[in-house]
Parts: sequence; C-alpha cells; structure tokens
Amino acid sequence: MRKGVIDLIRGPVVIGSGVPDIQLGEVVEVGEERLLGEVVEVERERFIVQVYESTSGVKPGEPIYPTGKRLVAELGPGLLSSIFDGLERPLKTLYELSGPFIGRGLRVNALDRHRKWHFRPLVKRGEEVSGGDVIGLVQETSVIEHRVMVPPDLRGRVAEVWEGDFTVEDVVAVIERGERRYELRLMQEWPVRLPRPYREKLPPEVPLITGQRVIDTFFPVAKGGAVCIPGGFGTGKTMTLHKISMRSDADVVIYVGCGERGNEMSELLTEFPRLTDPRTGRPLMERSILIANTSNMPVLAREASVYLGITIAEYYRDQGYNVLMIADSSSRWAEAIREVATRLEEMPVEEGFPAYLPDRLAELYERAGRVVALGRPEREGSATVIAAVSPPGGDFNEPVTVHTLRFVGAMWALDPELAYRRHFPAINWLKSFSQYAAAVEKWWEEKFPGFSKYRRRALRLLTVASEIEAIANIVGEGMLPDDQRLILLASEVLREGYLRQVALEGEDFFCRPEKQYLMLKTMMDFYDKAYMLIRHGVPVDELVALREVYELMRVKEDERGLEAVKEAAARLNEALEKLAEKHGVKLGGSSG
Ligand SMILES: Nc1ncnc2c1ncn2[C@@H]1O[C@H](COP(=O)(O)OP(=O)(O)OP(=O)(O)O)[C@@H](O)[C@H]1O
Ligand SMILES: [Mg+2]
Repeated sequence: MRKGVIDLIRGPVVIGSGVPDIQLGEVVEVGEERLLGEVVEVERERFIVQVYESTSGVKPGEPIYPTGKRLVAELGPGLLSSIFDGLERPLKTLYELSGPFIGRGLRVNALDRHRKWHFRPLVKRGEEVSGGDVIGLVQETSVIEHRVMVPPDLRGRVAEVWEGDFTVEDVVAVIERGERRYELRLMQEWPVRLPRPYREKLPPEVPLITGQRVIDTFFPVAKGGAVCIPGGFGTGKTMTLHKISMRSDADVVIYVGCGERGNEMSELLTEFPRLTDPRTGRPLMERSILIANTSNMPVLAREASVYLGITIAEYYRDQGYNVLMIADSSSRWAEAIREVATRLEEMPVEEGFPAYLPDRLAELYERAGRVVALGRPEREGSATVIAAVSPPGGDFNEPVTVHTLRFVGAMWALDPELAYRRHFPAINWLKSFSQYAAAVEKWWEEKFPGFSKYRRRALRLLTVASEIEAIANIVGEGMLPDDQRLILLASEVLREGYLRQVALEGEDFFCRPEKQYLMLKTMMDFYDKAYMLIRHGVPVDELVALREVYELMRVKEDERGLEAVKEAAARLNEALEKLAEKHGVKLGGSSG
C-alpha cells in the first residue's frame, strides 16, 4: 500500500514525502484523522497538499494516504434541491452528524444511497451506444427530467437494460465491447478540474432573459456567456444575483456562495428553499442546487467549490438544459487561491496573488458555453457563468477584477454613487459593456423589429445626457438651450422609468422582453415627437410640465403590465398632439 508521511504543516498546506509515484491532482487523506486534501505540486522527493479541512493539531510524522483518485464530483439524480459544501457533502447530513461546526475527516456521500428512482430506458438490448447517448430517463423533480447518459469515454452494445426502481448505485444497464463489460448506474463521477467534453461549441446568440431591463436591453448576457459583476461593498451584487437566480429563464440554477459574512450565506440558505418558482408554481429548489461556503468552513473548500459548481453545470448542460451558475463572490474564491500561494511562499506577483491567478480564472470562465452535447438524441445545452467580484475599496484596478475582465464577455459595473442614491440595480450604463449585445440582436429583432435601433439610440441619448449634465452642473440647467434640456428630460425618463428597477416583489420585479420593448419604444418615440415640437418653437417647459411624462416613468410598476404601458403611451401621445395643435405644429405619424 502506498503511504507517505507529513514533513511540514503550514496552515492548510502540507508538505509530504514517501510516495514516489504520487500524481498531481491526486486526492490524499492527511494525518490520523484522514483529512481530505489534494496534491497541488509534485517535486522530486516531496509533494505539496492543500487540505480542505482545518489542520490544527495535525503533526509532522503522521501518515498521508494516497487514494489514487482525482477530486471528483458525483453526478446523478438527487443533485437538484441539494445544498452542498465545496466538497459536495450535503450540509444537512453534515449538520446531523456533527452540528454547525463541521467535524474533521467526515466523509458523506453527495447522493443518497438509499433513495430509489424510477428509471425508464430509452435504449434496447443489442443497440450500439456511445459516450453521451441518453439511455433512459428519471423524473428527478417535478420540473426536471434527468437524462441518464453513457459516460463520455464509453462505447459498446447494450447487453442488458432494465426498467424499474433503482438506487444511484444499482446497475441499470450493461454495455459490452468485445470481451469487456461495463456496468452503467444512475450515478457517474467526473473530475471537477476537467471540463466535460461536448460535440460542438455554438455561438452564444440566444439571450438569457433576466427580467432586469438594464441587463436584457443594454448589457445582455447570452446563454453560455460569462459575465462579471464587480462592485464595492453594499452596491448590490448579491441582490442582483438573487433576482437573476430566481427569475431568469435558465432551466437549472447552481448558486455557489462564497460569502465572507456568515449572515449573507445563512440568508441564502434559509430564504432560497422557501421560494416558489413563478414559472412552475413549484419550489424553486426543484431546479436549483446551492453550494455553500460559510465562514465556519475552511478557506480552501471554497477553492474546490467553484469547480464543483461548474462541473455540475456542465453535467446538466450535457443533458440538454440551459444552466446558470452563479458565483458570489469570485473574489473570495481568489482569496483561497492566494492563501495557498502565500503558504507555499510562491513569488507573489500582484497584491499577494500568484502568477497563475489568470490561468485559474480562465479555467473557470472558459467552461461557460453553449454546445451541442455528445451523443444521441441530439441536444443543445448551455452553461452560463455570472460571477460577482468584490474589489477591495471598490477600486476596479485590482488583480481579480482586471484579470477577470480578460475572460468574460460582459461586465455589469456597479456604481457606489448610484447605490447611494438608491438607484438599483446600480449598474453604471456608461461603464458597463456586453459583447453579447451584437450576437443576441437577431433574437430581439425577429421578435421586436426595430428593437436594436431603439437600444442604440437610447444608449447614445444617455451618453450625450451625461455630457450635458456636466455642463449643466457648471452653468445651471436654466442656461441650456431647449433641445439640450429635452435630452436631460428624456434621459431622466429612461433612468427613472426604465433603468431603475428596485422592486423586490410585484410587477416590476421581473420585466418581460415584450414589455421592455414597448417601454423602450414609447420612451424613444416620446423623445422624437418632443424634439419635433421643440424644433418648431414649443418651449421645453411645456413638455417638462406634462403629467403624462411622469406617469410614463411610473408605468413599470402598474400591475396591468403591457396594457398599462399601452395606455400610458396613448395618453402621452394625446398630450403631445394637444401641444402641437396649440402651437400650430404638424406632428408626423407615430412611426419613430
Ligand atoms: N436591485 C435592488 N433593488 C432594491 N434594493 C437593492 C437592490 N440591490 C441592492 N439593494 C439594496 O442594497 C443593499 C445591499 O445590497 P447587496 O447586499 O446585494 O450588496 P453587495 O454588493 O452584495 O454587498 P457586499 O459587498 O456586502 O456583498 C440591499 O440590502 C438593498 O437594500
Ligand atoms: Mg454580497
């Protein structure tokens, strides 16, 4: 039996020796208590282990047991509705075994070994199957059907397949290839640090609808995209991510919480399981998985948790689902990476972060994507990654933010100024960007012709307005020409009536694409008509005084939804027509 020895302990990092054939990435059990660790570096005689549990009390000279296995995730029915720690141990079971302070060396299976699932085969004896083929179905929750797949590296002829009620460990099919026989179970394993294979990558051109106007309209995320949401303390990262996880049109949501404040995580853990999914009327947990790193858990479990999250995301992607993985906050994850580097006394590069920080970030974000999965029947799926970044002091010019921006396609830049004014989501429309905007334009145009034109003009109006505001701050708004004052008015309508979306419940919690379009069109049409009036000498003050303009800013909250927007648009039009008549101006048709 291979067995090594501990030479040195530095916090969560252990240096060992005595196992000449130890592998990089091999899982080892450290010390008499058999703490879980992973080999992160192999040198000639020695190897370095990061330990996922507290090493206090462990002494040099104690044994290290290699397992011959890499860090793997258990994948199979029963993942949904679960709450795991970073090592895929169900929190409930851990608590039952050892209370809130998780005992060391506890091994708990991710998937329940006793629960039975009804398996309905889709393949017959004699059929040829290969990696990724769906061999059968299990109704995992009332909203998600689990598609049981042949593991990626297997192929052969189905020798046996059974319908019935099985645990995740029971054999449900046997595959033969020449002399060899492989037993298939509902459960399979996959190394968390290795991306799961797919047949083909597809361009990310379908938007993930979040229901947040500033996001969907101006800085969209595509299904399969990667986005970061950087923001200083209390600017609304968690709130924004919560809203998206509850209401986006992803099929499956994986929420990786790396909160440093204990209460942030416990809020999530108590609140989330109570939520109902408005789309299905069922508990939201039936299509969600929470991975929690609370402050009483060792730092390094965070490091693993992100890989666990993306691996599960890929697994449901491969089944043909649109999966959303959220990481809040990736900065806490990066701190775990830094912790190891510091203990190893690796040459820190920037602010204590090791030179391989960018590689680690890339390894996460590059696993996002929209793909054609391996195997039959043909399936498309996606894994979208949205990660909060918490730059210290809110300064985006720090390593984690800077390097993250190299690997994501969009950034929602949170602005303390907006948050202070309680303009939420505090996403700064001048600093944010989305490379997916061009790719998802076709989707919007097909459904709502003219959408992209309105979008571009609105963004431009907001930019010009900010320039005019800078001038107005010096000379006073009253000194500005009427056309510039109109731009300020129109941008206020957009900011207050469109971008601001503070509701924590009710109508404005989620804004459907058709409503976003109609609101945007109404606001930009208003600007066009008002501009015509001003060009013909109508004083801007008469527009500023219109009650209907302020109604338009509040119409988002009207419970009657689309109907209310239509009515507000009609009333505003009427008011503008009246003004036109009064001043003898002829307004063109309503085509903007
Ligand atoms: N979209 C929103 N709508 C309404 N209020 C919001 C919204 N976003 C944030 N807030 C307000 O701002 C507060 C702080 O938000 P949140 O906890 O999400 O910030 P954070 O950036 O995650 O903070 P931390 O840096 O502490 O993690 C919330 O308690 C809430 O009052
Ligand atoms: Mg937060």
